[in-house]
Amino acid sequence: MDPSENAAAMRVKRLLLQHLESLSRAGVGQVPRRSPAVVAPPQLQRAPENAALAEISTRTVTPAGSEPIAHKEDATAARKPETSAKKTKSATPKKEDASKPGKAGSTATVKVEPAAAGTPAALLASIRQEVVACRLCRELAETRTQTVFGVGPDQPRLCFMGEAPGADEDAQGIPFVGRAGKLLTDMITLGMGLRREDVYILNVLKCRPPGNRTPSSAEVANCRGYFERQIEVLQPEFICCLGTVAAQALLQTTTPVGKLRGRVHTYRGAKVIVTYHPSYLLRSPDMKKEAWIDLQRLLKEMGLPIPKRQQGSSS
Ligand code: URA
Repeated sequence: MDPSENAAAMRVKRLLLQHLESLSRAGVGQVPRRSPAVVAPPQLQRAPENAALAEISTRTVTPAGSEPIAHKEDATAARKPETSAKKTKSATPKKEDASKPGKAGSTATVKVEPAAAGTPAALLASIRQEVVACRLCRELAETRTQTVFGVGPDQPRLCFMGEAPGADEDAQGIPFVGRAGKLLTDMITLGMGLRREDVYILNVLKCRPPGNRTPSSAEVANCRGYFERQIEVLQPEFICCLGTVAAQALLQTTTPVGKLRGRVHTYRGAKVIVTYHPSYLLRSPDMKKEAWIDLQRLLKEMGLPIPKRQQGSSS
């Protein structure tokens, strides 16, 4: 085994151990068989450095029969065909039930089969369950409708990281679904020529701060263990930090966002680009041209073309 294979194998072993400990803490003694995952288009498919993890997860054979996990985030979590998926709807957001991982919001809940132990989907599901049950920040735990974990493929090339859920996200359990979310979607699709469902979107905080206030440093510290482990499993090649809170939390710095822009940072092997938060861009539309510059830098780093209509465009 060459040194890089050895390092990958060690990493997989560590992730598996973490996951098994987490499962056992959650009282899970049995895990089901893996189902086929959704494949991202070639431009967002990951480089082969996760081959060892993928190989182990494919080889892992585990007994079927555990209770399925119900949620509709993490798009590549092994999913039953839509036709057989059970959907439940509720008109008003309910408080989440920590014993039932998933959303308590107003949108449809798709029942998915749990992925096999050790797969990124299973590791994410396990962290998600911890998040659902988390009460480290008392005020947030008491005021949230539900936690908002993240959405997207479980082995993305690119992650977008925001600050914290707002009212819409708290109601739906999905990050960036309100006005700022619409702008982020436009940045991803119209600006970068990508599909929103091919990138992973997460926040520093998994709970909405009341009144959308800025997260406190204690809240960021409480959530650090979750977003760091989430990113460790996702292993994105690129992370785009949206705004001050995300950039400062991820890079553990107090440097203002304006000074963090314009260069490529690194976080555990991922290239990190910092840009303005979509909410700020909604308040200061003049700054959109600066954000486009950041996104074009990101595309260049990713080796992706700048979509025609954006070339030379500043809005
Ligand atoms: N702002 C964020 O930072 N995250 C969201 O999910 C929505 C708005």
